[in-house]
Amino acid sequence: MKIDDILKVSPVIPVLSFRAVDEAVSVCRCLYEEGLKVLEITLRHPAAVDCIRAVRADLPDDTIVGAGTILDSDRAWEAHNAGATFGVSPGLTKTLGDTVKAMDWPFLPGIATLSEAMMAKEHGFTALKFFPAEISGGIGFLKAVGSVLPELTFCPTGGVTGATAASYLALKNVAAVGGSWLTERNKAGEIDPAIVRTKAAAAVAHF
Ligand code: 3PG
Repeated sequence: MKIDDILKVSPVIPVLSFRAVDEAVSVCRCLYEEGLKVLEITLRHPAAVDCIRAVRADLPDDTIVGAGTILDSDRAWEAHNAGATFGVSPGLTKTLGDTVKAMDWPFLPGIATLSEAMMAKEHGFTALKFFPAEISGGIGFLKAVGSVLPELTFCPTGGVTGATAASYLALKNVAAVGGSWLTERNKAGEIDPAIVRTKAAAAVAHF
């Protein structure tokens, strides 16, 4: 699968940070059952790679599990070897770009400026994460990039919410949006499955 095809499967991609494997499997099952089949599990917790492995094993085969916060080549290989179908990074370095190209692994590198978008394109990436979207210019930035680099498509994340997702998705150069708003933790630090289901169902309404 190419990264563009993955973004087409689901215009809303939950960006997930789990503390334990059981939590990952149960929350991902809620998201999947509500219709969100592309999931990004970030490598921000020591359990993240085990979470990717467990979700791959326990959820139906048409679940597409990616790994987020890929900061270097070692993490790319680690996530790939755990079964992540695609990778996402908040940025891009030459080494990381070369690695994921050589791996032939669907990859969404991050950019926040025009120059970064141009460098990512020069590296052969045309589907990009726009991060952190809201504080880097949001919808206005994407419209401006679209007028000079119309061949690029974006997945804005960072500050996107259930209230703003539809406005981003209405842009011609936005293929999907990502965010953690679907799985916010409550005061006890837990992710409430009922809230996840409600927010996921609302997100699917944007498809
Ligand atoms: C990411 O890695 O894409 C972000 O942490 C998601 O941003 P959000 O938490 O503001 O949705």
